[in-house]
Amino acid sequence: MQTRVLACDAPETLEAVLETLEAGGLVALPTETVYGLAGNATDGRAVARIFEAKGRPAFNPLIAHVSDRAMATSVARLSPLALALTDAFWPGPLTLVLPAAPGSPVHPLATAGLGTVAVRMPKGPARAIIAAFGRPLAAPSANRSGRVSPTSAAHVLRTLDGRVDLVVDGGACPVGVESTILKVEEDRLTLLRAGGVTLEDIRAAVGHDVAHGGGGPIEAPGQLASHYAPAGRVRLAADEALAGEFFIAFGPGPVRGDPACVENLSPSGDLAEAAARLFEILTSFDRPEIERIAVAPIPDVGLGLAINDRLGRAAAPRGPG
Ligand code: TXA
Ligand code: MG
Repeated sequence: MQTRVLACDAPETLEAVLETLEAGGLVALPTETVYGLAGNATDGRAVARIFEAKGRPAFNPLIAHVSDRAMATSVARLSPLALALTDAFWPGPLTLVLPAAPGSPVHPLATAGLGTVAVRMPKGPARAIIAAFGRPLAAPSANRSGRVSPTSAAHVLRTLDGRVDLVVDGGACPVGVESTILKVEEDRLTLLRAGGVTLEDIRAAVGHDVAHGGGGPIEAPGQLASHYAPAGRVRLAADEALAGEFFIAFGPGPVRGDPACVENLSPSGDLAEAAARLFEILTSFDRPEIERIAVAPIPDVGLGLAINDRLGRAAAPRGPG
């Protein structure tokens, strides 16, 4: 398949996107978090193509992306607490895992047959596209399984060129890490994935504590231990680069070594800037000749939780595939 790339604001783009989705094809779309590999969530064939294009080892459930609250309630049952969360954070980088609505149009392949469904209203061009399409879009991050999530159109093409019909180029994603995933059960909140909305913000908005999922590492079914992996081995919480290591720094401290082998997530120590640059830097170091990468310690607060989760997976022992 030939992958077409269209600028987000080009006059022909919306029509091309809608035609592709209508035909069960796949479109890589910019969201505020990362680029999504989008297909019609109500069309089993389109959903199957998403899994095929990503090369996912299993049929992990996908997020149903919606454009408004009416579409959200056609897909899931929203408790008063869930509604309060949508008021505070939608559109934005928060995904809610909710009981599926009776008669939900989302295809069971997209929910992996679970009785729950993950729902998110993205910010930016993706939302207008969903509104025009009129049905929810299933969209995992637009990368081959296990690889770094894409924050630019070029980055999508790195692993999906020839596997996706259309890429909509909307420039760099401002948040840069995926959405926070919260499971909502009545008045209980459980964090399944740290992401673009911080726990501090959630507590402040709804006055609710958030439990961590699964006891151990944060658990969503598709959150494999080894993920976001560049070709080289990754060493965390490193004070400096050892001989032969490329270094990912954070903050204003001086970094020894060859400047060509060093990238700084945020020289001023700003976690939002670090989140926005994380995948871009991991991708720039994802080259066969880079065998070892060391990463400076990142504070485990606010967006640091999401950054450390992704770095932990990038550093985890590699499984098959
Ligand atoms: O920011 C994002 O969330 C991006 C953009 C494209 O929206 N999407 C994204 O999708 O990161 P994906 O498929 O890479 O991650 C979705 C995660 C998976 O780990 C999956 O297991 C989990 O959501 N998930 C989906 N449905 C679930 C459910 N019913 N219960 C628990 N976890 C679920
Ligand atoms: Mg992903």
